[in-house]
Amino acid sequence: MSHTPFVSGFRQVNIVLASLATIILITLHSSGAFAQDQGKQLFEKNCQVCHRLGEGKLVGPELAGITATREREWLVKFIRNSKELIDSGDPIAVKVFEENNKIPMQSFTNLSNGEINSIIDYIANWQPPQKKEFTVDVNKKEGFTEIEIRRGERMFYGLIPFENGGTTACNSCHYTKNSDSLNWSPSAHDLAVAFVDNSGMNIYESLSEPTSEVMENAHKEFKLTGEEIYNISAFLYEFSHKETKAFKIFPKRLMLFILFAILMTLALIDLIFTKNIKYRIIHLIIIAVGLTVHFNIAMVEAQSLSRTQDYAPDQPIKFSHKIHAGDNQTDCRYCHHIADFSKSAGIPSNDVCLNCHNVVLAGRNSGKFEINKIKRSVENGKPIKWIRIHNMQEHVFFSHSQHVNAGNIECETCHGPVAEMDIMKQFSDLSMGWCINCHRDTRVNFKGNDYYSTYMKLHDDLKSGKLDSITAEQIGGLDCMKCHY
Ligand code: HEC
Ligand code: HEC
Ligand code: HEC
Ligand code: HEC
Ligand code: HEC
Ligand code: HEC
Ligand code: HEC
Repeated sequence: MSHTPFVSGFRQVNIVLASLATIILITLHSSGAFAQDQGKQLFEKNCQVCHRLGEGKLVGPELAGITATREREWLVKFIRNSKELIDSGDPIAVKVFEENNKIPMQSFTNLSNGEINSIIDYIANWQPPQKKEFTVDVNKKEGFTEIEIRRGERMFYGLIPFENGGTTACNSCHYTKNSDSLNWSPSAHDLAVAFVDNSGMNIYESLSEPTSEVMENAHKEFKLTGEEIYNISAFLYEFSHKETKAFKIFPKRLMLFILFAILMTLALIDLIFTKNIKYRIIHLIIIAVGLTVHFNIAMVEAQSLSRTQDYAPDQPIKFSHKIHAGDNQTDCRYCHHIADFSKSAGIPSNDVCLNCHNVVLAGRNSGKFEINKIKRSVENGKPIKWIRIHNMQEHVFFSHSQHVNAGNIECETCHGPVAEMDIMKQFSDLSMGWCINCHRDTRVNFKGNDYYSTYMKLHDDLKSGKLDSITAEQIGGLDCMKCHY
């Protein structure tokens, strides 16, 4: 079974030709895709801060459809250097400038003609994301049946396969329990709250058209059907109620506490006085169980009351000091701006966050979900309930301004390496010994500080060389009344 040389040679040529054609095709195809990608990337890098397609006016006007009303040549000129065009008296440019409150657009002289044209191509070809049609009621937020809820629950825990693939359980990213490690994905409870909130997310939209790059990557394997999303929303509906129940556990514990207090009293009375029950072992069991229950309840309550060192609760937004104070080097006082002149340092309001997050809409780690919570809080008027970490007892007086302003002590001396913390925690133990030790050891900056002009005698001692430095102790830092009301 041998081929003639000619045939096999012909075959080889054929194969070579075919592969050449394939290579050329791939190159052509990917260069086309590249041009589109380039326009998109350039737009996201240079323009997105001020223009967002399909979302209306931001800093600059809406650009979707702009190619229908403006000449391409004009667009290139305007984008390259709008100021030049406006100054030249171009009527359209002047009109646009005035309509936008004379906010100048920066120039892009660094971009080539080709690059600017690729951006314009991207804008011209941009299509609003298509609304998908669903056969289920996409507006339903309550009144699900038990079967729908259970099916959704199993899907969420990865126990039922999805029709179009996807094997990772939802709860492996969207935790259903609190965790002490950092997880950037929204928790299942957060998703549930966002789902039942009327101004919250539309789960059908966000699951069929990912809201951010982060979500696109994380959800790559899922193409959920309307039916599946419906069932999952049934589960989320139920889950939003479950969690709130868990928080109201205290009255139950209080009842238990009282019940055992009564039982133990009765047992004691019977043991010593009435002696109705013959077997003493019964009294002893009741008292032993009662004491154990009481001790347990006391422990749990004490732990939640006295927030101790290293306390690091989950906050309502996954806010990271590492990203803000560390990576982006935002000054502590930008957010805690009252620390210099007030007793407390304060927690920033939504407005402070929005100064930046009106523009920064998505994070590298958490996508849009966490940042959206700020907007939602403004819209529905429910303030963000930050959980307080440091909480000194009522009878102690501590003032930030005294320490950071007058005393010139760095925040990090007391709060530790905050700029490295993704999750904020209590660094120092805030015990009396901690305050006192530092007052003994820390020299105050006396010279040229008006705040201390009342301590004339110490000043004189310092001058005459009787003292070589002055600690907080010497200006009364150990007086009981300075720290205790
Ligand atoms: C710093 C914010 C900012 C950035 C960044 C920015 N723009 Fe603008 N853009 C504006 C403002 C403001 C206007 C309104 C015109 C004016 O006041 O000069 C505008 C206007 C325009 C117009 C004219 C709209 C019209 O109605 O004719 C076009 C086109 C445009 N921008 C494209 C772009 C492109 C493309 C980029 C990125 C390469 C970009 N802009 C980057 C703020 C910005
Ligand atoms: C972008 C705003 C922002 C910046 C910048 C910032 N913080 Fe915060 N800080 C917050 C928010 C929001 C909270 C509440 C959430 C939390 O505890 O993580 C907070 C909480 C804290 C807490 C705990 C408060 C409590 O509940 O007891 C301390 C301590 C703190 N910040 C110190 C600092 C220090 C020190 C810096 C500078 C290195 C800093 N922060 C920079 C916003 C900021
Ligand atoms: C001398 C130690 C010390 C220094 C320095 C210090 N703090 Fe504090 N900080 C504390 C103590 C103690 C508390 C707890 C106060 C309380 O519970 O009343 C606290 C609480 C806080 C809180 C919780 C909310 C509040 O106002 O009580 C924030 C936020 C905070 N500090 C931020 C800062 C920032 C930002 C700086 C630097 C500008 C700073 N701290 C400097 C000791 C310090
Ligand atoms: C000075 C500007 C500024 C302020 C003020 C600010 N942020 Fe940010 N925030 C940023 C920047 C920049 C990023 C990083 C975006 C990225 O990942 O590239 C960011 C990221 C985030 C992220 C996402 C983190 C991630 O990587 O996914 C959250 C959540 C967030 N901020 C919440 C808040 C909250 C809450 C406040 C108000 C207490 C606040 N920010 C105030 C600038 C700011
Ligand atoms: C690999 C991790 C991962 C898995 C698995 C995963 N998710 Fe997500 N999901 C994310 C991240 C990260 C985000 C937040 C991205 C954002 O908001 O930009 C998100 C966002 C969401 C959102 C909110 C979108 C919005 O409106 O902001 C919903 C709803 C959601 N996921 C549901 C699910 C369901 C249902 C499953 C299981 C079929 C699932 N996720 C599986 C990581 C995951
Ligand atoms: C890192 C060192 C340090 C720690 C920790 C510290 N302090 Fe101070 N404190 C100082 C210094 C230095 C001064 C004196 C300079 C000044 O008045 O600013 C001072 C001053 C004071 C004063 C005013 C004393 C006066 O004479 O008016 C009070 C009150 C006070 N501290 C309370 C506290 C309490 C309460 C704590 C613990 C919760 C504490 N401090 C922890 C360094 C510290
Ligand atoms: C520099 C500040 C400071 C000074 C000075 C100070 N204390 Fe305290 N004291 C504290 C702090 C902070 C606590 C709370 C510590 C805790 O909760 O563990 C405390 C707690 C206490 C408590 C309650 C202990 C407890 O477990 O609740 C007593 C009692 C007390 N102090 C007495 C005194 C007396 C008496 C003096 C004067 C000799 C004094 N303190 C001086 C800061 C101070």
